[in-house]
Parts: sequence; structure tokens; C-alpha cells
Amino acid sequence: MRKIILDVDTGSDDAVAIMAAILSPDIQLEAVCSVDGNKDIDKTTENTLRVVQLLGSDVPVYRGCRAPLVKFLCPDRLPRRGESKPIVKDGKVIQMHADYLDIPAAEIKEQPISAPEFYVQYLRQATEPVTIVAVGPLTNVAMALMMDGTVMDKIEEIVIMGGGYNITNVTPTAEFNIWHDPEAAQFIVHCGAKVTLVPLDATHAACITLDDCERFRKLGTVSGDFAAALCEQRIAVHDDSQPLAVPHAAAVHDALCIAYLIDPTVLKDVREVHCDIGFRDFSEGQTILDPRYYTEEKNCRFAFDGDRFKFVDILCDLFARDKKSGR
Ligand code: BDR
Ligand code: CA
Repeated sequence: MRKIILDVDTGSDDAVAIMAAILSPDIQLEAVCSVDGNKDIDKTTENTLRVVQLLGSDVPVYRGCRAPLVKFLCPDRLPRRGESKPIVKDGKVIQMHADYLDIPAAEIKEQPISAPEFYVQYLRQATEPVTIVAVGPLTNVAMALMMDGTVMDKIEEIVIMGGGYNITNVTPTAEFNIWHDPEAAQFIVHCGAKVTLVPLDATHAACITLDDCERFRKLGTVSGDFAAALCEQRIAVHDDSQPLAVPHAAAVHDALCIAYLIDPTVLKDVREVHCDIGFRDFSEGQTILDPRYYTEEKNCRFAFDGDRFKFVDILCDLFARDKKSGR
């Protein structure tokens, strides 16, 4: 069974990823770390605890960094967050990410040490390799590996939801997770670990439709119901302001990273690339792929495509394992 630490800025698609990781029999989820990103750290931590509690899991949750490494120190690098436009449907305001997930408030508590401290302590003591799956900005992971570089050999792979080649979402050149903390991302893509980037090119191809939501709901489980509601909320926002090539569909980015651990062929056209991150002006947060095959060494694997049918089948198998919702 593959051991993983999941790093999240929960977040609607982060929530789907957390549920998938908890339910997978192929994954041993060691911890979930929150980070500043979609929302501030209080909200992403509370939302993470809510999802863990909903599934009745005892996985520990660690509160992570409350700001990117450098960006918020630079007054010229605004805005701070990339909010998508809320819409109103049947009198209800729908956002890509509500401030708080619409499930019971957390009664379970976060752990007493911070996420970067946890990474260092965990990795120092690890006797088996662990995979880090980071589906928010890379602040915690970069901070931890800056604190102690000797733990690198304990990391099997770092799987990152981030970046885009032909598709971006927060600026003409950048995807949100990388744009929010570009310095952390640059540190991680060059840290020497096996790094797999799951960018927007893959997550938009592996989109989820309204029909897929029906499949989730028909399972009659807690996670199936909640995933259906979250994906429908995302589809409503995509339909309104960012329609995908497939009608009535949404990217559910973060969960694709979990699906990749279960079946790597859910990512298609995965190429070894040399990737750098832009820091400023038009290139801020851009994943810059060097087209000169003869110059730089390759430092990342980059997925240019994804398989949406496989992705939905994997999620259905996972959500079917959950307790019945009794609705
Ligand atoms: C990424 O940014 C966040 O809004 C999502 O949770 C996802 O991790 C997509 O760009
Ligand atoms: Ca996320």
C-alpha cells in the first residue's frame, strides 16, 4: 500500500480528493496538511477537518503556512487570491469554492504542531518511502524541505496539481496553485525528487459531467452524495463563465492526482520536461517548459492529457466503498 501525505487548500475539488484518498484501499493516508490558497488558512483548515469528520476518518490534520513564502511581502504582486465570479441560481449564491463547505462544522481538532514541522519530523523517522500529493500552493512542502534537505531520500514522488501549458486559469500565463506561491513551486520542481505535475491540460481533459454526478449520487453513500453536490456546484460556475469543451462539465483538478496513484494511466501523454516557474509581471506563476530538448536536464514529468472515463470509474469505485448516506 502506498503511503501518502496530502497537502490541501480545501476547497471544493480538494474535498473530493480528500474523500478519494481516505476511501482508497491502495493508499495509506498518513496525514492531511492545510495551506493558505483558495481561502485563508483558518478556512482551509476548518474545511479540511469537516471533510475528515464527515467520513469518520481518524487521519491527523496539520495546519500549514498562512501565507506564501515571498509573494505577500511584495506590494506590486496583487491581487492576493484568484476568486472566480459567483453566480446566483434559484436564489442561491454559487461559488467555485464557498468560504465553508456545506457540511457540519468540525468538532474534531487539528494536531498541535504545524504542517512543515510535521513533514520534517515524519520524514526523519520514516522507514518507508512516502509520496507527497500537493493540491494547493506548495508553501508547506517547500518550507519543510528548506528546513531539512536530508529527508529528501524518504520521498518516493511529489505529485502536484498545478501549472498549465495550453490552458491557464488565473492569468493568461498561470494556473492558480503555482501562481499563488511561485517561489515555493520553483524550489520544489528543482528539489531533486521525482516530481509529477498534473496541470490544467490533464484536469480539463478529465472533466466530470452532470451525468457523472448522477452516477455518484446513485451510489447512495455519504461521499457519493457530497461529491455530486460539489461537482454540480463546479459545473454551474464553469457553465456560467468558463464553459469546457464537453458540455455541462467541470474540472475537479485535485482528485485527479489521487486517481493517478490508483491507476497511473488516467494521465495521458506524460512527458519528461525541463520546467521553471516565472516570478514576475506577465510570467508570474507560469510553468515554463523548455522546448530545447538538447539543453537542460529534465526535472519534472508533465501530463498533457487525461482520461475522463477512467477518472469517473475510479471515483465511483471509491465512493461505493463508503458508508450509506441513509437519505
Ligand atoms: C487549483 O486551484 C484551486 O482553486 C483548486 O483547488 C485546484 O487545486 C486549480 O487551479
Ligand atoms: Ca486545491
